[in-house]
Amino acid sequence: MADKASSQVGLAAAVKAIKAGKLVAFPTETVYGLGANALNEAAVRSIFAAKGRPADNPLIVHVPSVTAMQSLVTSAPPMLEKLAAQFWPGPLTVVVPKSTLVPQVVTAGLETVAIRVPNHPVALALLEATGLPIAAPSANRSGRPSPTQAAHVQADMADKVAVLLDGGPTGVGLESTVLDLTAAIPTVLRPGGVTAEQLAAVLGKVEIDPRANALPGDKQENRPVRSPGMKYTHYAPRTPVTLVEGNTAAIWPAILQLAQEHSKNGLVGLLVSDEGQCWFMQQTIDDSLLHIQSLGSRQHPETIARAIYASLRQMDEAGVAHIIIEGIPAHGLGLAIMNRLRRAAGGHIHFVGEA
Ligand code: TXA
Ligand code: MG
Repeated sequence: MADKASSQVGLAAAVKAIKAGKLVAFPTETVYGLGANALNEAAVRSIFAAKGRPADNPLIVHVPSVTAMQSLVTSAPPMLEKLAAQFWPGPLTVVVPKSTLVPQVVTAGLETVAIRVPNHPVALALLEATGLPIAAPSANRSGRPSPTQAAHVQADMADKVAVLLDGGPTGVGLESTVLDLTAAIPTVLRPGGVTAEQLAAVLGKVEIDPRANALPGDKQENRPVRSPGMKYTHYAPRTPVTLVEGNTAAIWPAILQLAQEHSKNGLVGLLVSDEGQCWFMQQTIDDSLLHIQSLGSRQHPETIARAIYASLRQMDEAGVAHIIIEGIPAHGLGLAIMNRLRRAAGGHIHFVGEA
């Protein structure tokens, strides 16, 4: 499958499979998607089955252009044009009122539908060639880190897909931003590749749903759920994770202390920034029980976004007993990164100093 990838043969097989109601895994600029014909109810149901995904968590519908979304919506808010001009193709998903053409199973019974135009040549070629809207969640098993390489899809989904198109590692590495355009003020339901700051520059005012910033266990977690996907533990490696949040002066010593405590129980994986790695190298520590890996640079959060899911999977493969991760400031792209890491940590968050 993967070897045929990116070739015309692979694309032709993928087009045939989508038209026949089968599942195709394909690359986007964010993460790999598990796609089916969005207008074919049975095909969409098989996405939920393949992922082990709860039926109340709606899917994103992918289209190749704004024109191609017209028949899927009843009305397009005026700001959609501005957003599309600025961010499409790209990592922005908009939630808008759905037309009757979109089956209920896609939207989990909601009267709105989430739509985006992905910025990846393979995804766009697939959408153009099928002439169909493609419903696609991330191509991981429910709860696991999202796939940013074809090998990740292979590991989670090999027996579930008719065709896997290999487009190499994805560029953004985190899922799209989900923006609700049916609210009085456009609201970010899931932070992602397009930042709230970038959206505000185009729209003026943007709200962030409190759950996007919430820590598991917060009061916000008990508010009504507007983006159903946000209520599940997510993005998690198999190994338990502790996330450390706080200012740089305090964060690395705190990580070191935690690592020493946990190392009594076996190998400890440390996912720390490049800056943190420099600090660790200057300490005199017995690192035989530490597996240190780069998270990316604090100065360049896009490097962290690109590598984070692969790093979580690598930690599992390294056979560590516990993973400790260095948190970063939760603004800009950092908001999306921290949203995912807090969920991966499932509530095991350690605060140090002033955040
Ligand atoms: O980058 C991405 O968005 C990737 C690629 C494949 O496009 N897709 C993705 O899909 O991350 P998924 O299914 O893993 O996440 C979709 C999110 C979920 O949080 C879901 O609850 C939310 O979008 N969503 C979908 N339809 C919605 C709707 N009508 N209203 C509110 N939230 C919705
Ligand atoms: Mg997902």
